[in-house]
Amino acid sequence: MYFWLQLLFGTFFLFLVTGRGYRNCIQKFESNDTFICVNRLKVTIHKVVFDLPPDTRNLTISYNTIKKLPSGSFGNLTKLQYLKLAHNELESLSPGAFSDLIDLNYLNLSYNQIPSLSWGVFNGLDNLRYLYLQNNSIAFLHPEVFFPLFSLKSLNLSKNFLSNFSEIVNSIQPLQNLKTLLLCSNDISYLNHIHKLPSNVSTLFLCKNNLQELNCHQDFFENISFLDLSYNNITTSSIQNVNLSKVKYLLVASNPHFDVLKYLDNSTIKPENIDYSGLNLNTSTELSQVCQHLRGKNISILNLLENGIKHLSENILENCSLSDTVDLSRNRLKNISCLKFLNPPRLKSLIVEHNLLKKLINCSKAAQFPNLKSISLRYNRIWSLENYAFAFSPNLEELKLNINNIIFLDRHTFWGLSKLKSLRLDNNLLTDLYKSTFIYLTELTSLNLRNNRVAVIFDNVFHYLSNLSILDLGGNKITHVKIEAFNGLKRLSKLYLDRNQIVTITGEMFSGVETTLQVLDLMANQLHFESSRKEISPFSNLSKVYDLKLQAQQPFGLTAIPRKFFRGLTSLQALYLSQNRLAHLSSDTFHGLSNLKFLSLGEDCNGIQNLSPGIFSNLSSLEVLDLENMCLQTLDSDIFLNLTRLKRLQLSKNALRAINVSLLENMTNLQYLDLWKCPLTCTCDNEELRNWLIKSSMQVVYVYNLTCPNDPHSYFHNFDISVCDRILKKILFCCSSMIVLLLMLIPIVYSKSYWRIRYNYFLFLSWLHERWSSDKDLYKYDAFVSYNTKDEEWVYQNMLPVLENGSSSNGLRLCLHHRDFQLGRYIVDNIVDSIHSSRRTLCVVSRSYLKSEWCSLEMQLASYKLFDEMRDVLVLILLENIPEKELSTYHRMRKVMLKKTYIQWSEEPEAQKLFWAQLIKALKGSTTEDIEDSLLSTDEQISLISS
Ligand SMILES: *[C@@H]1O[C@H](CO)[C@@H](O)[C@H](O)[C@H]1NC(C)=O
Ligand SMILES: *[C@@H]1O[C@H](CO)[C@@H](O)[C@H](O)[C@H]1NC(C)=O
Ligand SMILES: *[C@@H]1O[C@H](CO)[C@@H](O)[C@H](O)[C@H]1NC(C)=O
Ligand SMILES: *[C@@H]1O[C@H](CO)[C@@H](O)[C@H](O)[C@H]1NC(C)=O
Ligand SMILES: *[C@@H]1O[C@H](CO)[C@@H](O)[C@H](O)[C@H]1NC(C)=O
Repeated sequence: MYFWLQLLFGTFFLFLVTGRGYRNCIQKFESNDTFICVNRLKVTIHKVVFDLPPDTRNLTISYNTIKKLPSGSFGNLTKLQYLKLAHNELESLSPGAFSDLIDLNYLNLSYNQIPSLSWGVFNGLDNLRYLYLQNNSIAFLHPEVFFPLFSLKSLNLSKNFLSNFSEIVNSIQPLQNLKTLLLCSNDISYLNHIHKLPSNVSTLFLCKNNLQELNCHQDFFENISFLDLSYNNITTSSIQNVNLSKVKYLLVASNPHFDVLKYLDNSTIKPENIDYSGLNLNTSTELSQVCQHLRGKNISILNLLENGIKHLSENILENCSLSDTVDLSRNRLKNISCLKFLNPPRLKSLIVEHNLLKKLINCSKAAQFPNLKSISLRYNRIWSLENYAFAFSPNLEELKLNINNIIFLDRHTFWGLSKLKSLRLDNNLLTDLYKSTFIYLTELTSLNLRNNRVAVIFDNVFHYLSNLSILDLGGNKITHVKIEAFNGLKRLSKLYLDRNQIVTITGEMFSGVETTLQVLDLMANQLHFESSRKEISPFSNLSKVYDLKLQAQQPFGLTAIPRKFFRGLTSLQALYLSQNRLAHLSSDTFHGLSNLKFLSLGEDCNGIQNLSPGIFSNLSSLEVLDLENMCLQTLDSDIFLNLTRLKRLQLSKNALRAINVSLLENMTNLQYLDLWKCPLTCTCDNEELRNWLIKSSMQVVYVYNLTCPNDPHSYFHNFDISVCDRILKKILFCCSSMIVLLLMLIPIVYSKSYWRIRYNYFLFLSWLHERWSSDKDLYKYDAFVSYNTKDEEWVYQNMLPVLENGSSSNGLRLCLHHRDFQLGRYIVDNIVDSIHSSRRTLCVVSRSYLKSEWCSLEMQLASYKLFDEMRDVLVLILLENIPEKELSTYHRMRKVMLKKTYIQWSEEPEAQKLFWAQLIKALKGSTTEDIEDSLLSTDEQISLISS
């Protein structure tokens, strides 16, 4: 019983979940409970969510123009955990807008135009932890609007028009789980308040308001550990007036009337918990005073950002040297002078980004920082790196020199960096790379040289980098890669050569890295092939490469792919070939790539218009196929035949007008199909497709928004198919053809078989009346004579005397209608009766006989008798000599006469003797012969009847 219920329910459920296409959302292919609904024009929230499945967990509805959220907007999506409604035009949130979203954990309403939060808006959000309301126009909060959010941990109200701090504090009173409150960029001038902050609020952002005097209770911040008061107009004394003893991080940057040195003289906060950024500490005196306060304190990060520091004299930060990290970013430093401003012991990390550094000098004689592991000098103007520039940091592991103006690297620039693992030199002006440059970097695993001006990679440049696994040479001007360029890179697995000017690739180029290379990026170079006839296999030894990028070759694209181009890439899983204006792909292009999971050929609308049959036939592992915007017009019926593992198929923006459903049905694992912007016609050609798209269980992107090409107001999913209904069509066809056939047959049957029907009807009646004795051998007459009245004279005068009254042996009993028919009976009944009570039927054929309807009927009826008795009953005598030509008008008679021997009457007395003898013999005939004869002539008889 349970089983049947389950089956029933299962079927019903299946029925419910079919048709997965969403009007305004795309289900994420990677995680099927995630929906992205962006850039939909003129939608309401209802139109967006109404068709989403109830188990949706993650929903992003950004960049639309939704203005209102009525109550119960997400009624059915009770499993929702993550909801992002940013970048809309929300103005009105009704009470209960989010009711039923009991599982919602994250709600983002930022970048809207919400003017106020009225009562009940957040009702039902029992489990909400993160609420983002920044970048709205909120000026008013209902005092109880946040009360339902008792799980809330983080509330962001930045960039609004809030001015009454007391109201804000009141509104969050019951939020005992609230930890973080962001109120930057509002209009708050005073921290006046009636209530305290909820006890768990520990992080408070009040940056970019109009705070001058804080005007709060002295212990208002007693539970705060992170406090941002930057970009206000707060005075020193007003901060001195509050108790910040629990604060672990205080940012007061950019408060012009705040004097940190004055503050440090009488502060409740520990000096090491202050962020010294943006405090205008730019003279040596100020800096050394600060460090005086920090003397002997262990600091994890000493932030000195944005202080306008131009120069750091020797040992100036000596007393700050117990810090792990020193951040001097966004100052005006021109050099770091071998870090002489710091005292060595602890420093692990130095950050000097966004300064005016120009040159790193020779530091061979400087004190060493044995703990220094990481240096970042990004965003400076460094153009020169002298020899031994990093001699002070022998244990450095990470060095960021990117985004500078480095032109040249000296031979010994990196001297001593034998522990360096990661070196970033990207976005500089390097033109040449020399083998000697990297000689010391034996431990390097990652080298980034992207966006420089390197033109040639000479032999053995990277020879000493035997531990390098990632080499990024993208965005250079490389035209040549020498044959031994990558020699020595024994561990290289990822090589980026994209956005260069490489014109040819050869197998030798990669000879040094054949056994280790896994990722090869050759995107946007200048590879180009004239034809696909030649055989070129540059990757033949790269058997470990799983990711190969060849898309967007400049300026013309690859145009052609040579034969066996991908030979040897036995591990390849992802191949990028889009934007290459491939004019033709031969069907064996991808043969051998049996592990390929991802293939992109899209954005190629100048070339291919039809894919060669069998082109994907060996890609049985393929999971994602991108054929977007390729100008495809038709798809070969077998094109996707072997793609049984395919999950995602991108066919959007092609010129496909019709698609055969069987093509798609092969791909049993397909989960995601994109046909957006294909001009699929709303005609019977696409009837099956239409039905299939709606019924299939995979996602068809925006299936309900696909319009008909010639009418943007009608939709593909519901175009009229009643005219195409195959079954109905068949039924209609059958019915009408049957009727036509019947109309044709009835007259024929009527004309041909009328008498047969009548005959049988008569037999039937007779049978009913038991008129027929079962013994059919008893005949009343020997012969029924069928003749025309015009020949009556001959019959009575010539035939009767011979046959009836002749010598005793002849004594035949004849049935003649004038004489023997019963009066008062219907003539046909009489005929049938007579034929049946006679052994044979004798037809006296003459011209007038042929013309007579009755005679013809009599002959016909006689022939039916054959079927009842299996006997030949017809005997023909010809009274006149009727030529063949004349006979042809009476085709029935002619047919009989052609097959049967007939007896010809003659006026000559001698001939008449033979005539009578033949006739008598024919009428009497021996029975056995008779039967054989009749059997032999059955065919004739049948054809006679059916003619
Ligand atoms: C998502 O995928 C899982 C397993 O792959 C399946 O059980 C679930 O029904 C799918 N959900 C939807 C909404 O398709
Ligand atoms: C909830 O689902 C029902 C039926 O599935 C539907 O009629 C209704 O419009 C849906 N409500 C919302 C708010 O989408
Ligand atoms: C929900 O999806 C968005 C967009 O794909 C993603 O950024 C976010 O991390 C996801 N959140 C959760 C909880 O899965
Ligand atoms: C900042 O505060 C000082 C007094 O403390 C006042 O003179 C000045 O006008 C204020 N500046 C602004 C921009 O409010
Ligand atoms: C420190 O500041 C507090 C509050 O302004 C004040 O009461 C106290 O007298 C000051 N102490 C000194 C030594 O200046």
